[in-house]
Amino acid sequence: MFFSLATIAALAAAAQATNIITFINTDSTDRTIYFTPNAGYSEMDPVDVSGLGTVNVTFESGYIGNAYAVTQGSTATAGMLAEVNFQGWLDLTYFDVSAIVDPTDVDNVRLMYPYNSPHTPTSGCDPFPCDNAYYNSDDVQTKTTDSTHLIVTLGTGSSNSTLDSRDVNSAVDNGENVMRKYVTAK
Ligand SMILES: *[C@@H]1O[C@H](CO)[C@@H](O)[C@H](O)[C@H]1NC(C)=O
Repeated sequence: MFFSLATIAALAAAAQATNIITFINTDSTDRTIYFTPNAGYSEMDPVDVSGLGTVNVTFESGYIGNAYAVTQGSTATAGMLAEVNFQGWLDLTYFDVSAIVDPTDVDNVRLMYPYNSPHTPTSGCDPFPCDNAYYNSDDVQTKTTDSTHLIVTLGTGSSNSTLDSRDVNSAVDNGENVMRKYVTAK
């Protein structure tokens, strides 16, 4: 079988995955998500997510930038950041939660992890602070995945008040234990 370079390029383009972040709002606060693309990428409109709601946001190929969330109706002020580079070095997805702009913004962006099971690695804290986020520019906290679909959790609900099937699936896949709340169901 012989493929011309043009054919190979076309096949590569056709195989390119859609870049998605699923934002999961874990408490009852309505939020607005703002996007800050790096220079050279298209501006993106803010996206509303209702309390306990979920939205999927798609990103252009190679997107480099971040997202932050605020309570709906409040000023768009960058805080805890969900940073991502899709189709980065070696065609991988790079991501992290960064507290560098405002470490006190602890109730909006919290965790970031691949959508596909086993949902590891994670970046961020739930709750803050923890040692799994960027606090200083020389921290080494950026995670990688070959997935082009990530989850970002928003809000205060995910760690204490809800049972999360993603936690359990992750633990099953990795042979790990889960928190006691899964045996008490509360
Ligand atoms: C987001 O995408 C996932 C997977 O593609 C899909 O199962 C889910 O229904 C979507 N959610 C929304 C709110 O569109």
